[in-house]
Amino acid sequence: MRRLVRETRVHPAQLVLPVFVREGLEDSRDIESLPGVQQHSLDALPGVIDAAAEAGIGAVMLFAIPEARDATGTAACAADGILNRAIARAAEAAQGRVVVMADLCLDEFTDHGHCGVLAADGTVDNDATNEVYAVMAVSQARAGADVVAPSGMMDGQTAVIRAALDAEGFTSTSILAYSAKYASAAYGPFRDAVESELVGDRKAYQMDPANRREGLVESTLDEAEGADIVMVKPALPYLDVLADVAAASAVPVAAYHVSGEYAQIEAAAERGWIDRRVAHLEAVTSIVRAGADIVLTYAALEVAGWLKEDM
Ligand code: PBG
Repeated sequence: MRRLVRETRVHPAQLVLPVFVREGLEDSRDIESLPGVQQHSLDALPGVIDAAAEAGIGAVMLFAIPEARDATGTAACAADGILNRAIARAAEAAQGRVVVMADLCLDEFTDHGHCGVLAADGTVDNDATNEVYAVMAVSQARAGADVVAPSGMMDGQTAVIRAALDAEGFTSTSILAYSAKYASAAYGPFRDAVESELVGDRKAYQMDPANRREGLVESTLDEAEGADIVMVKPALPYLDVLADVAAASAVPVAAYHVSGEYAQIEAAAERGWIDRRVAHLEAVTSIVRAGADIVLTYAALEVAGWLKEDM
């Protein structure tokens, strides 16, 4: 009876697996604050893509950690930079079985750890950063990304990226815009995963957790600027924002169950305080119930397996 009257059904195709690729690694290595998640070597990537395709999930979201960083994040736009090489490897392995998404942001590539380039006074320069994002987007499309995902929260980034892609002929490369991205405590383990150099915080560009209406303003702007998918992040603490965005949005809506949200479940499960499987399924189901069409989760492969078992 519960199955018959269920209001929300989650399908593996809605899930996106974030994947970390670390330059210079021989073997994949564990990330301590993200149990079950690894930094992969470039050579391990095709195996991850195969696993994603076999699990039937919709996409992977690639992040990369370079060996060398500088003030402007040069390696982010280089064709032989680790992220672009990872995109090419993933696209080649995927053969259209899963969508290849790429993080479009400078924080992994700058030696100060900010998501953009800095002005003389040390603050992030919004418009100068957008110029770099435009070049980075084109380099990612050229490497074979199906979707570029700007996560730096610069004003106007979606419009600048769309124009740059179109000008280079990449008219069918899609944009997943991190639209309502809050300055959250829940990114801690991710910053370990990417070996972040950040000192301080991102409050000058990420949103105030206290603001609900502003989330809708941000997603509406991104949609008008040409976003193909808008996203709310983190997910569970922001289900109100997600519901608002889903109600108003004409494009698909994604939500990111971020590293700290994942790690909370893992840490409690490790202590025997929570049932891991039930907790992850409850999280994803709740995010979809609130209005997400697409969910990014580090548990995507396992969740896909559990969903099939439960069918
Ligand atoms: C930054 C970025 C962040 C995440 C994805 N892209 C974190 C940040 O703002 O430091 C977080 C994802 C997660 O915590 O799982 N470009």
